[in-house]
Amino acid sequence: MNEEALADALTHLPLGEIRYFDAIGSTNDEALIWANAGAPDLSLIVADEQTRGRGRMKRAWFTPPQAALAFSLILRPTIAEQPHLSKLVGLAALSIVQALEAFGISAQVKWPNDILIHQRKAAGILTELIWSGEQAVCAVIGVGLNVTKQAVPSADALTLPAVSLEDALGRIIPREELIRNILTAFIELRPQLSADALIHQWNKMLAYRGERVSVEVGAGQTLTGSLDGLLPDGSLCLCGDNGKRIIVHFGDVRLRPFADILER
Ligand code: BTN
Repeated sequence: MNEEALADALTHLPLGEIRYFDAIGSTNDEALIWANAGAPDLSLIVADEQTRGRGRMKRAWFTPPQAALAFSLILRPTIAEQPHLSKLVGLAALSIVQALEAFGISAQVKWPNDILIHQRKAAGILTELIWSGEQAVCAVIGVGLNVTKQAVPSADALTLPAVSLEDALGRIIPREELIRNILTAFIELRPQLSADALIHQWNKMLAYRGERVSVEVGAGQTLTGSLDGLLPDGSLCLCGDNGKRIIVHFGDVRLRPFADILER
């Protein structure tokens, strides 16, 4: 991928401005700076390589050159979108799943922000908001996707096993095609941010539904139960071991199939 190929691929999309970097620390960091400086809605930062890519819970995100798709999309939420921003991660996840479907790859969403192929992590989403008082003036949606085998980090006992699209498909999908399809899906789905239809679709793609899972909710506290699905605001609903409903809100939570805990 290079700047010209990227611009060509995205030419028909109603994006704001586009910035491309051969190498950068983190596209999310750059996007937050640009958003504060007035970047228009749907502005985009894409990098071939990240040297300080960030994931959720202060984890590093591996983005070696020519191997991964790494981008950050800046949104200026409308008044109508404001109450629904917790669902942006779902919108992004659905866009990725739909884009992958077009290439014959079946993926699932591991709540809240991981995209799985055959139970392995192929992509992650990092959503960050810029607040002015009670109002989120900007949202930055960062997406990292393992495109070639080289993008898959070495095994780490603390994280999910990872996979690349190349592993799943047996060929390398050009990154401009991937980003074009993801952004096309995102722009089409965006009006559904406030609609029940979004939760319905997100639920259908949810990994581990009906299965026993554990959720680490911080301070060493782990909840277990069977995964029921999502509530209208995108929170996760479990049926606890005592039969009581458990609601898990977004935050520094970590969801795992229960079997993983037994194995450790
Ligand atoms: C996660 O799984 O924890 C989220 C990973 C998000 C990584 C992407 S890559 C593009 C953008 N820039 C970053 O520094 N992080 C996100």
